[in-house]
Amino acid sequence: MNKSIRPFAFLSFALVAVSAVYASDIKKAYEMPDASKIVQDDLIPSATKFTMPKDCKLDDLESIARGKYMFHNLNSKNDKKENLPKGMKVPKKGEVKPYGNCVACHNIENAIGGGTVGPDLSNYKTNFVDTKVRNAQFVYQKIADPRVDAPTTAMTVNLTTKLFDEQEVCDVTAYVLSVKKEKSTKKSIKK
Ligand code: HEC
Repeated sequence: MNKSIRPFAFLSFALVAVSAVYASDIKKAYEMPDASKIVQDDLIPSATKFTMPKDCKLDDLESIARGKYMFHNLNSKNDKKENLPKGMKVPKKGEVKPYGNCVACHNIENAIGGGTVGPDLSNYKTNFVDTKVRNAQFVYQKIADPRVDAPTTAMTVNLTTKLFDEQEVCDVTAYVLSVKKEKSTKKSIKK
């Protein structure tokens, strides 16, 4: 070996040796958790079937009002107690209650900026329930866990994830199925 590079060769050998010792030490010092297990724990449970509870009062006006509130709001951040429909739970301090933000993806009667990611839910009862294409159980299941009949859906999973409880799924179902008065311009045209 060329005399002038001998010290460098020795030095690099020493460096490799030292770092090998350190590397094995570091392995001992850190826990190496199984990442796939962590990912598994973060995944939401698989598609789950639910039956609409018998005490789901679809014609109850208070239930429809709560469902409407949830449909058109993201969460409880901007809630004012005096504006909340009757029976709506007021979240504890520091807690933010998720409401579904259905309007982000769906248009419906009197929606402000209804989204187009999901189908338009206007006149849902007339178009889909009275024609027997859909029923209340279908809507309840769709809101609770939409993946049961549409495995690759973009819609949020609400009951399996516990974002909503059963009563809240009932309320939103009641609202979707209710007959709503649409603010229309027809009246002024007729005049
Ligand atoms: C991120 C977008 C998104 C959000 C938020 C969302 N949906 Fe959907 N929704 C969809 C899409 C996409 C479909 C069509 C695929 C399917 O059936 O899952 C759908 C389908 C539906 C249907 C079935 C219509 C039919 O008869 O086929 C109903 C009912 C419905 N959504 C209600 C709701 C309600 C109520 C909420 C709020 C709790 C909501 N959705 C929130 C995207 C969304």
